[in-house]
Amino acid sequence: MKVTLKNIKAVYKSFFLFFFINISFSQTLINYKLESRIKNLTNAKNFKGVISLENVLKISNEFGLDNDQIMELFRPYSKMYSKAPISNYNVGAICKGSTGNLYFGSNIEILNESLSFTLHAEQAAIINAWNNGETEIKHINVGGSPCGHCLQFLNELNNADSLVIVNPKGKNFRIRDLLTLAFGPKNLGVKTGLLAIQKNDLELENESQDKLTKRALLAAKNSYAPYSKSYSGIALITKESRVFYGSYAENAAFNPSVSPVESVLSSLNLSKVPFDQIVRAVLVEIKSSKVSQKSTFQSILKRVAPNAKLEIVYCINKK
Ligand code: THU
Ligand code: ZN
Repeated sequence: MKVTLKNIKAVYKSFFLFFFINISFSQTLINYKLESRIKNLTNAKNFKGVISLENVLKISNEFGLDNDQIMELFRPYSKMYSKAPISNYNVGAICKGSTGNLYFGSNIEILNESLSFTLHAEQAAIINAWNNGETEIKHINVGGSPCGHCLQFLNELNNADSLVIVNPKGKNFRIRDLLTLAFGPKNLGVKTGLLAIQKNDLELENESQDKLTKRALLAAKNSYAPYSKSYSGIALITKESRVFYGSYAENAAFNPSVSPVESVLSSLNLSKVPFDQIVRAVLVEIKSSKVSQKSTFQSILKRVAPNAKLEIVYCINKK
């Protein structure tokens, strides 16, 4: 073959084509491998929206991903749990607790109920971490800046000052960058924060040996209500005899508070259990408290699980 300019160009062209096809082929293979690894984890029967530190490390080492990339990698999978029949706006968030585990959270709206019964993805992720025993959140990623409501919610965290808000589009944020001159627990004289261990000294008005009632009492003991002191918790059981629970989480600005009903429904949602699988639910709260979960508990659960047996059990604050 004669060495002409045309021939040289053709050789170069095919070399680059070969090179790029190879790169994109191996990239596709990596993406495929990653995707099937994540699907294996999230499709597991007992998956409840938690990725253990062990699995996080395995994936980040194998695929060479840093903390922020890992958090962004899982976000679309978290979004898949979103239930937004009113807005059709699906949101997924991922947060990382001090154990290194990752927690999913997605928004939940309930059709035909008021908009105030909306759980934001960031709230769901934090509640998921709390429900699984985390006492501090290091990072959260919702794809950019959380909304004002969520910033206010996040500002309630016991380590709000050090929380990193991962921003896949640019520089990471702190709450203070986005919520300047914030209103928070300190304004109301509260020194603890959300996720600090709570041991509310509660006991049932009438002693009970019922497992679900005891679990709801424990959820109330763990609840965070430094403003109203109206501690409450819910435990429920499904058709498959799976038990779920949720605690009340108050906020200094009141409205971003998360009711125990929202908390327990989010837990069910992240475990892929349809709400109509609820067979029986118990709310434990203090009878004479300033805030009651009774009407929300009854109206929301009647809406999503019309056949569920609902019970309200009262407790007293020994302190
Ligand atoms: N939403 C979130 O979950 N997080 C945000 O930060 C923005 C808003 C949800 C709430 C509601 O379900 C829907 O998006 C529309 O606002
Ligand atoms: Zn929000």
